[in-house]
Amino acid sequence: MPNSKIAGVGMYIPEKVYDNAYMESIVDTNDEWITRRTGIKERHVSADDEYTTDMAVIAAKRALENAGMTAEDLELIIFATVTPDYFTPACACVVQGAIGAVNAAAFDYNAACSSFITGTVIADQFIKSGMYKNVMVICADCLTKATDYADRATCVLFGDAAGAAIYTADDEHPGILAAEIGSDGSGCKAITSLAIRNDEEEIEKRISHRKETIWMAGQAVMKFAVKAMADASNAVLEKAGLTYDDVKLVIPHQANYRIVDSAVKRMGIDKDKVFLHLEKFGNTSASCIPVALCEAVMEGRIQRGDKIILVGFGGGLTWGAALLEF
Ligand code: UT7
Repeated sequence: MPNSKIAGVGMYIPEKVYDNAYMESIVDTNDEWITRRTGIKERHVSADDEYTTDMAVIAAKRALENAGMTAEDLELIIFATVTPDYFTPACACVVQGAIGAVNAAAFDYNAACSSFITGTVIADQFIKSGMYKNVMVICADCLTKATDYADRATCVLFGDAAGAAIYTADDEHPGILAAEIGSDGSGCKAITSLAIRNDEEEIEKRISHRKETIWMAGQAVMKFAVKAMADASNAVLEKAGLTYDDVKLVIPHQANYRIVDSAVKRMGIDKDKVFLHLEKFGNTSASCIPVALCEAVMEGRIQRGDKIILVGFGGGLTWGAALLEF
C-alpha cells in the first residue's frame, strides 16, 4: 500500500491589510482589546473583485511549481471553503478548469476550519486505495466578504487566504503516520453562516440581521477548541507510538492566541515547537493550516524527514489532527 507524501505546497495572501488602527476607525474596538484577547494585529483582505477561487488558483499553481509537477499530473482536486464563489459549480471544478488539470476529478467538501486535516485524510485514503497517485488539497476562504463589519465580536478576527498541498503516492516515504477526525453536530449552531435556510430563531440571536454573515458563540467555541486540539494531537501521537520529543513542529489552526496557548499547555510542549502566524493574518479559516505549513517549509522550519503535527478545530463542530513525516 503506498503512503502519502507531501510533494509540494503553495499559498496566496491578498495584498490589502486592515490593521488594528483601521478596525478602531470602523467599529467600537481598540488595539489593546484585540491584541490581549486574540493576538491579532493585522488581517489581509481580498480585493472587491477577488473571490475564493481567484486566490485558490494562485495557491494551486504555486503548489504545482513547488512540487515540480504540471496540472496534467493531478488526478484529484479536493477543495474546502465556507465562502464558495457559487453554490454550484464546486470551487474545485473552477480551479480544475482554470489551471487545466484535465486529468483530475474535482469536488468540494466542508469541515470548516478543520478542513485541511479532513482533506489530508481524504487524499490519503484515495492514495492508499490505489485509485489516485497525485491529489491536490486546497483550502481557501474570503471570510471578509461574509463578515458583518458592524459586529465587533467577529469582524476583528477574520482575514482572507488560500493554501494548497499536493499529496503523492510513495512506497518508501512514511507519509501520514496517524490521523484522526471528529465531529459533534450537537454544537452545529456555535458557528454559522446561513446561506438559504431561513432559520428565524438563529437570526434572532444575531447582532445584525444580515443573515449571510458569520455568527459565532465565541466563548463556547473557545472552550471546545482547547480540549479538541489537545486531545486530537495527543491521540495521533499515541496511535503512532511517538511523543512530542519526536515532533519538530506543531501547526495548529489559529483563531485566537489564547486558544493555542491553552491547547499547547495541555499538550505539555514548549511554545517554540508551535508555528504561529496569527498576528499578521488573523483567523483565515481552513486556509490557516496549509498557509502555515507552506510558510514553515519556505522559512526552513521543517525539512524532509521531520515529523510534524497538523491540528485544527472549527464549525460543525469539527476537529482533527494528522501526524506526518514531511
Ligand atoms: O476558527 C474557528 C472559529 N472561531 C473561534 O475559534 C473563535 C473562538 N472564540 C474566541 O476567539 C473568543 O471568544 C473571542 C475573541 C471571539 C472573544 O473573546 P472573549 O474573551 O470570549 O470575549 P467575550 O465574547 O466574552 O466578550 C468580552 C467583552 C464583551 O463586553 P462586556 O459584555 O463584557 O461589556 C464584548 O462586548 O468584550 C467585548 N468585545 C469587544 N470589545 C472591544 C467583544 N468584541 C470586542 C472588540 N473590541 N472587538
